[in-house]
Amino acid sequence: PVKRITAPEITSRKGKEPLVVLTAYSAPMAEILDDHCDILLVGDSVGMVVHGLPNTIGVTLEMMSMHGKAVMRGARRAFVVVDMPFGSYEAGPEQAFQNAVQLLKETGAQAVKVESGPTVADTIEYLVRRGIAVMGHVGLRPQAVNVDGGFKAKGRTEAEREKVIKEALASDAAGAFAIVIEGVAADLAGEITRMVKAPTIGIGASNACDGQVLVVDDMLGLFDWSPKFVRRYADLRGEIATAAAQYAKDVRARSFPAPEETYFAK
Ligand code: KIV
Ligand code: NA
Repeated sequence: PVKRITAPEITSRKGKEPLVVLTAYSAPMAEILDDHCDILLVGDSVGMVVHGLPNTIGVTLEMMSMHGKAVMRGARRAFVVVDMPFGSYEAGPEQAFQNAVQLLKETGAQAVKVESGPTVADTIEYLVRRGIAVMGHVGLRPQAVNVDGGFKAKGRTEAEREKVIKEALASDAAGAFAIVIEGVAADLAGEITRMVKAPTIGIGASNACDGQVLVVDDMLGLFDWSPKFVRRYADLRGEIATAAAQYAKDVRARSFPAPEETYFAK
């Protein structure tokens, strides 16, 4: 049996080998990525990437649980983190605990992630003290889209810098085993990374972080647009379109299926 990576092992990687993280939402993708990643994140980005929602506000516990289960069926070695969706933890520590327990019991995943605005540090501490491994998430917090007025890079003004640093320090002191930093400039990401004991995992946050995460469908080139910080390692959109066009042509020409793709009576 393959030994799964643990939260303390992840935390102890800080300052050593960079942590490799991708999102995953399905069993077959998790199975492929498992050989290459330390952590698979079942992100609430699933709402946008898979379900076509305009942002992550509409994502439910049920959706996170279903995709978490699927990923756990494919991942053997990677540490699996499930995002707590909007509305499932902000009311307070007890609400967060109940919903985190539900997610972990239903999926068998190893940890949850919360977008750690200033009021969430108490919740992280409450969960960690009760046996739940928690990943923090600071900087651009997609679940704050309606107060922020869109997805905007963070920490460009001095006041904002202070805010992001505060969030990161609070999550760190609360016991987060790792902290995602999203959408901040390189110098701020570096400053936070030096200040916190938890490893930082960057997305749009430079190579100053202790690890990197990308939305897998973005890095595979499944969309015609992707943000500046994404490197496209494949062109799946083109591959899929080419395959679908060839299939359509073959069906219309009746050249698919061929005899070797057909069952015949004995
Ligand atoms: O939902 C998500 O995919 C995330 C990562 C991009 C950090 O939160
Ligand atoms: Na997320």
